[in-house]
Amino acid sequence: MTKITLHSIDKSYGEVQVVKNLNLEIFDNEFLVFLGPSGCGKTTTMRMIAGLEHPTQGTIAFDGKRINELGPQERDVAMVFQNYGLYPHMTVEQNIGYPLKLRKVPTAEYEERMLRAAKRVQMHDLLHRFPRELSGGQRQRVALARSIVRKPQVFLMDEPLSNLDAKLRVIARAQIKHLSEELQVTTIYVTHDQVEAMTLATRVAVMSEGVIRQIGTPEEIYNNPQDTFVASFIGSPAMNLFDVSTEASGLAILQNQNTNIMAPAQGEWTMGFRCEDVQLCDPYAASLKTEVFTFELLGDCTMATAMVDGKLLTVKAAKDCRMQSGDALHIKIDPQHVYWFDHQTGKRWRQT
Ligand SMILES: Nc1ncnc2c1ncn2[C@@H]1O[C@H](COP(=O)(O)OP(=O)(O)O)[C@@H](O)[C@H]1O
Ligand SMILES: [Mg+2]
Repeated sequence: MTKITLHSIDKSYGEVQVVKNLNLEIFDNEFLVFLGPSGCGKTTTMRMIAGLEHPTQGTIAFDGKRINELGPQERDVAMVFQNYGLYPHMTVEQNIGYPLKLRKVPTAEYEERMLRAAKRVQMHDLLHRFPRELSGGQRQRVALARSIVRKPQVFLMDEPLSNLDAKLRVIARAQIKHLSEELQVTTIYVTHDQVEAMTLATRVAVMSEGVIRQIGTPEEIYNNPQDTFVASFIGSPAMNLFDVSTEASGLAILQNQNTNIMAPAQGEWTMGFRCEDVQLCDPYAASLKTEVFTFELLGDCTMATAMVDGKLLTVKAAKDCRMQSGDALHIKIDPQHVYWFDHQTGKRWRQT
């Protein structure tokens, strides 16, 4: 039950500023995800919340109380790291029970709580194994059990799934989501994987270069990206983004073709649309005529790509659609589903 406030946080290593004027309120019991590319300052921000790094400037507060001066132990946070940080010379049981041992919890209670945590992640049959005798997925679960063996004020998870293969990641992701719904503890989760962010978060803070670009629910950042960075970072495949100019009437020109789509005003724009929001169509109805660059079968759907203005354009199509490279590709873009961004700043254009 903890609200976390980050107020005007800066962090520099020497000359290099890696977190810049970060302001953020993380609500009680919320599952907040820091999402951004490698090197954007996610881990540094999390380590400052844990007390493992100190901000160069700014205030960190738990429930309105400044905690800058408190050490990691006093902050009562539990952390799960990317490499799990298990003690190699300890068994599964000793690893999971370690936070209780540190706090000198009596034996009977220790046993009970350790076993409950182990059961929650289905590791109770392997209590006597050492980490080297476990698979990656099992190690990840031990690390998770160790973090939930006591109820901390805050959970911090730094890319806890990134060392797992794709299939295990889906299972572990579901497990974390289920656990977090059960435990109801304020959780901050760091990842560069937008699918993890979309599936786990109550809110996502999208970061780049030490700055939060946008914060909102997964739906908000997917449906209402505020700039081209967020638009291109969320969604797989990424949003189609093309620089367009307008003709005198204001209609957008893409790859020397009149798209029949009205830009917000005359000039230069970045036009965005998602692959699932455009359709294949007959030539007469097309906003854009081009040809197939690749065609991909994905099982539940298909994906056609075209090379437009030197960039890949993706169109999602029906599962039974079949095309091949070089085929004509006629695309209808629904103006209602077009996002307009300022060509210079990348900021989303909004009707005033
Ligand atoms: N101890 C350190 N000394 C110097 N630079 C660091 C240190 N820790 C992180 N950095 C730099 O800070 C930036 C942000 O790092 P980090 O927070 O780990 O990014 P992320 O977790 O988003 O990948 C990177 O450019 C990294 O090289
Ligand atoms: Mg990191």
